[in-house]
Amino acid sequence: MTTETNAVSDAQTQVEQDLVDRVVASFDNTDNPRLKQVMQSLTVHLHDFIRDVRLTEEEWNQAIDFLTRVGHITDDKRQEFVLLSDTLGASMQTIAVNNEAYEDATEATVFGPFFVDDAPEIPIGGDITHGASGQPAWVEGTVTDTDGNPVAGARIEVWECDEDGLYDVQYTDDRMAARAHLYTNEQGEYRFWGLTPVPYPIPHDGPVGQMLEAVGRSPVRAAHLHFMVTAEDLRTLVTHIFVEGDPQLAIGDSVFGVKDSLIKTFEQQAAGTPTPDGRDLADQAWAKTRFDIVLAPAEK
Ligand code: BEZ
Ligand code: FE
Repeated sequence: MTTETNAVSDAQTQVEQDLVDRVVASFDNTDNPRLKQVMQSLTVHLHDFIRDVRLTEEEWNQAIDFLTRVGHITDDKRQEFVLLSDTLGASMQTIAVNNEAYEDATEATVFGPFFVDDAPEIPIGGDITHGASGQPAWVEGTVTDTDGNPVAGARIEVWECDEDGLYDVQYTDDRMAARAHLYTNEQGEYRFWGLTPVPYPIPHDGPVGQMLEAVGRSPVRAAHLHFMVTAEDLRTLVTHIFVEGDPQLAIGDSVFGVKDSLIKTFEQQAAGTPTPDGRDLADQAWAKTRFDIVLAPAEK
């Protein structure tokens, strides 16, 4: 994209550049070299932005007001700054910078605000739903390293919304549902019952929602199931799987989290189709999917 450039005289350009140079120089004595680099680069890019769009004072005031509202709505349950970062693609860009592709390791995507630390443990083949509503989905796969060796004892955290598009933490009754953790067996295998994911909107009743509305963007995320996988000496993987055929994939994901390699087939099974573990779903359609996870070595 090119922004329209207003003609600026040489003298004015010099005034603006002098200010950039003085602000950059103000960080010259920073002891921490990384802090110095970050602050000087931030200065250059921020001033470039202001000069590029020829930011008006009214727009600057609006921006301050917007960020103030983002701060005011943020508390220990609602992190509007993370939502802002997510909807600007800054979260996914940070993930891209820090999770360079390594051989066939599974790709990472955005963490989101709905993880909780103390989700219950389930055995292999257990059920994460704990009463959350939705179509049952059998999820199975393996965890291996990039040489194809099974990773035994990998900790897999999984979490998702219910069929109404809400995570347990968005209800006011302290429920814990549609989330759990489990460990891979000696063959690196895992399996569990979850829910077929559905698209849902990110919280959009605050300033970030207003921003999305003002620019004609939808708050809806493509349907997904979150995973976080940790294992010794391997890179922690934060990712999701998406649902092949979800119309939201074509419309777009509001936080830019979709990667083609993470789109999986949730094979629909008619009610009465025998289930992998003998569970009786005579009256209910269900789905099954497979997600084989490959972890990169740590520090790569
Ligand atoms: C989520 O997938 O849970 C999520 C990610 C980014 C912003 C809001 C929600
Ligand atoms: Fe989510």
